[in-house]
Amino acid sequence: HLVLLSRRGPEAPGADALVAALAELGARSTVLACDVADRTALEGVLARLRAEDDTVRAVVHTAGMTSDTPLADCTPEELAADTAAKTRGAAHLDALFEGVGLDVFVLFSSISATWGSGGQGAYAAANAYLDGLAAARRGRGLTAVSVAWGPWSGAGMA
Ligand SMILES: NC(=O)c1ccc[n+]([C@@H]2O[C@H](COP(=O)([O-])OP(=O)(O)OC[C@H]3O[C@@H](n4cnc5c(N)ncnc54)[C@H](OP(=O)(O)O)[C@@H]3O)[C@@H](O)[C@H]2O)c1
Repeated sequence: HLVLLSRRGPEAPGADALVAALAELGARSTVLACDVADRTALEGVLARLRAEDDTVRAVVHTAGMTSDTPLADCTPEELAADTAAKTRGAAHLDALFEGVGLDVFVLFSSISATWGSGGQGAYAAANAYLDGLAAARRGRGLTAVSVAWGPWSGAGMA
């Protein structure tokens, strides 16, 4: 059972087709609208799953956004908004699954965390946070991997 979260949820273009394609592959999926930076909203999703006797075994955090504003031109508010999905979202997931034996905790990071990326200072910092969170979780004896993707073609923010 895949539980797919994004702020638009079922309103995201292609959501219905994705659910149908996953069903053909044998997976049940549920698409929900949830801002992962909003801890209360995430708690609501987990409460709903618990009520349905669903046990979460794997967490894959892919939420993120980027902008082309150089760091020096970012206001604190813009910096917070540009990093929230990654930093707050991943921190909430880490905290909400404290004490739960997950099999998998995957974070979608980027080469920008290591090398930087022109005009994407906030994005690079947010990804560096993910790398640090994975290391911190492993230091606590918990599963975590932060994948430093390079740009992929065909879809997505790049
Ligand atoms: N594309 C690349 O080349 C590349 C390279 C390196 C790393 N990555 C990483 O891979 C991940 C996916 O990238 P992508 O290219 O597939 O990006 P994308 O097409 O822009 O997808 C990002 C997804 O995150 C969701 N999202 C954003 N903020 C959210 C929030 N606060 N709460 C819940 N969902 C949120 C968006 O949906 P809503 O707007 O509906 O919330 C969207 O579905 C990102 O973490 C990105 O940094 C991508």
